[in-house]
Amino acid sequence: MKGLNYKFPHSRQDSGQANRGDKSLVNQGNQGAQNIHNNRWNEHNDHSPSPLMHAMQKISVQSSQSTSANHSKKSSISKPKQTQQMSFLNYLILKKEDEEQEKQAIQQQQNQHKQQQSQFMQNNYFPNEVIVQRNMFNFLYVIGIGGFGKVWRVEHKKNAQTYAMKEMSKALIIAKKSVNSVMNERSILSNLKHPYLVNIYFAFQDRENLFLVLDYMQGGDLRYHIGRMRRFSEDQTRFFMACIFLGLEHMHSKNIIHRDIKPENLVLDKNGYVRITDLGIARVLRPDNAQDTSGTPGYMAPEVMCRQNHSYAVDYFALGVIGYEFMLGKRPYTGRSRKEIRDQILAKQVQIKRSEIPDNWSLESADFINRLIQRKPANRLGFNGPQELRQHSWFKNFPWQKLYNKELKAPFIPHQTEDNFDARQISIEDEENNELIQQNAIMLRRNSIQALFNGYELDNFTQANEPIKQQLNNSNY
Ligand SMILES: Nc1ncnc2c1ncn2[C@@H]1O[C@H](COP(=O)(O)OP(=O)(O)OP(=O)(O)O)[C@@H](O)[C@H]1O
Ligand SMILES: [Mg+2]
Repeated sequence: MKGLNYKFPHSRQDSGQANRGDKSLVNQGNQGAQNIHNNRWNEHNDHSPSPLMHAMQKISVQSSQSTSANHSKKSSISKPKQTQQMSFLNYLILKKEDEEQEKQAIQQQQNQHKQQQSQFMQNNYFPNEVIVQRNMFNFLYVIGIGGFGKVWRVEHKKNAQTYAMKEMSKALIIAKKSVNSVMNERSILSNLKHPYLVNIYFAFQDRENLFLVLDYMQGGDLRYHIGRMRRFSEDQTRFFMACIFLGLEHMHSKNIIHRDIKPENLVLDKNGYVRITDLGIARVLRPDNAQDTSGTPGYMAPEVMCRQNHSYAVDYFALGVIGYEFMLGKRPYTGRSRKEIRDQILAKQVQIKRSEIPDNWSLESADFINRLIQRKPANRLGFNGPQELRQHSWFKNFPWQKLYNKELKAPFIPHQTEDNFDARQISIEDEENNELIQQNAIMLRRNSIQALFNGYELDNFTQANEPIKQQLNNSNY
């Protein structure tokens, strides 16, 4: 196993470009306050109770009840000792009730799950695979690192199929108040199947971790490759942008905004085709979403930065930033903090000037990118629908159907033998995560904490796979 003791640490890219330190921010909601927990920001509406807080709240309710009881009795007979005993008794009773409720909820959940499983077994699709567990896979080595843990290359022991396994520590999820975020990712993933998205096969959990079993993308992510290449060619950039567009078009057709399109979340297969991954902060579109300010500042559309209602066009803005970065080797709006980047966006509309267009790049390419990075959503390409991108002159005669069927030769092919990831970076981030996991592990003993992850499982292999084939067959282009 390669594990985390890697052989060839790759150097990080210079500060002119974005780097892996540019983390997704998840907003804190109404107060507008943002708390960073190591590298992931708190989730809007994600009010998973910290067990300590929960206990403290209970005790403070009890003690305030006992205080007011004392006050009201003061004028008659004061019995502080008895009141304290009463309040502690009350606390025990409440605690017992609470535990009973938790047990019932878990039981109910388990029954439901068993029922689903037996229905599935009756269909006789894949009877031995119904309960998916960690020990069904060989963990080969780590291929990526995320806010909540490692991403592994794994192999299914029985059928030797290779997958990517995203392992997420419950302790980290709780510490970063991101339960909603991970539950949301699992639920959106199971509603999407597309050849340009990283698709889900299974989801399961044990006491410490959540696991997502996904398409394995052996070519690494585009942050790693742009770090090494500095810039891409026009052909390569157009090919990458077209792949990302197909993935986005599908997500948008299902009313989902990705909200965190950036090179780290775009992964290559061995043939050089890009797929979109990381639906951690993707959301179903709501008209009134001004408070949802999650994303990564360098790729975040101005309407999100400025807390306005926003729509699918935010993903097209991010796509434009990526095109800009691949052409010129830097992002249009840079800065060390969200505020600095916002100030730059507010100060002026960046556009690629004629004189900046590199040799061998067309005017159309610059026009396409310039139209995507429009600050005003209504002026942005794609605001009126995805056909605006397809119809742009840069994509004139582009073989969309062949791309969809993956019948083209990709202009950038990742290494077939070397690792396509930065092992040193993975190791650094893993250590940071480990510290936090140790600090927060004790919480996982509580059933009420475990209950927050009820319903995470997805173990219907056949049904999870079926829609991909259907979509490929039914495609119109
Ligand atoms: N299916 C995959 N195949 C290969 N590598 C992957 C795959 N999924 C993720 N990776 C790698 O792992 C890294 C982290 O994964 P991901 O982006 O899903 O986690 P994350 O950023 O922590 O997500 P979240 O926002 O849910 O915390 C990616 O940047 C990528 O390099
Ligand atoms: Mg990510």
